[in-house]
Amino acid sequence: MKDKMIESLDEIKSTGLKDIEGVKTLDELEKLRVKFLGKKGKLTAVLRDMGKLSGEDRPVIGQTANEIRNSLEMEINSAKDSLGQKMKEMKMKEEDIDVTISKEELILGHRHPLLHTLEELEDLFISMGFSVVVGPEIETVENNFDALNSPENHPSRDLSDTFYINDDILLRTHTSPVQIRAMKELGAPLRIVSAGRTFRFDDVDDTHSPMFHQLEGLVVDENISMANLIHTLDIFIKELFGSDMKTRYRPHHFPFTEPSAEVDVSCLSCRGKGCELCNGTGWSMELLGCGVVHPKVLEHCGIDSEKYSGFAFGMGIDRITMVKYGIDNIRLLFENDNRFLNQF
Ligand code: PHE
Repeated sequence: MKDKMIESLDEIKSTGLKDIEGVKTLDELEKLRVKFLGKKGKLTAVLRDMGKLSGEDRPVIGQTANEIRNSLEMEINSAKDSLGQKMKEMKMKEEDIDVTISKEELILGHRHPLLHTLEELEDLFISMGFSVVVGPEIETVENNFDALNSPENHPSRDLSDTFYINDDILLRTHTSPVQIRAMKELGAPLRIVSAGRTFRFDDVDDTHSPMFHQLEGLVVDENISMANLIHTLDIFIKELFGSDMKTRYRPHHFPFTEPSAEVDVSCLSCRGKGCELCNGTGWSMELLGCGVVHPKVLEHCGIDSEKYSGFAFGMGIDRITMVKYGIDNIRLLFENDNRFLNQF
């Protein structure tokens, strides 16, 4: 009996130590503790037969059992310590932040030169008491042509000049239909600017693109004349390009204004002296179209043309941006090439 018990106890010790050595988690370790040393564990099971031993064998077995319990307990405790340490190290590694690593450089973008010009123009007109309004890029033929007194046979209405969606709807060819919307909705008096995309059936070259940008202005009030138009635009040009800038109003024709003019300003490069860029003329050509609003246009929008008159102007934002920054190719504005855009 005694020998058999010793054998069982030895067996418990050797398997116990081996199992403890192989343990990977604290959970597993606790299960082993219960399996070997718990109330219903292997060691207790062996000791249950103590009663069957002789008086002199009992203390021997008791001592052996105690020694085994102690050594298993010691192993379990040291395994617990080293497992705990290991888990702590793993956790530290997972949560490790190396504050010395330099982070990826954050590249901040900036406004596109076109948007920059657009906002600068709007701000100038806001400072002169204008309000900013918006209109749709997809327009009615009525707003884009008819209401603007553009006759049926006007070349700009041609299929080869305009993107039609159907007989009545098109991509606006200029921002002037926003004049019509503003007059119909807000009536007189009125002082508005509106900027945005416009579309014409143009082939792309250095100065043309089928999509471009305009800014439109309209003032309607009592006693408005060409003099108010010239005064307003002169102030605007001087604010935008510098006080030494001169303007030149060349008679022109637009169906929706009478009289009409195109505006040239001093060449920005030589400031009027004459250089290669302006072919020696001293002028940057056709920066704006403008005129006194045709009475028919006012009447069409329900405004009394006996009481009210107005002036309107339209300018190419792309063209102004190119003149302002010395850009000689309009494509650069739309290609989104960072080597170009990063210069601004
Ligand atoms: N809409 C004209 C154009 O696109 C410009 C313009 C606007 C002319 C307002 C006169 C008055 O050419």
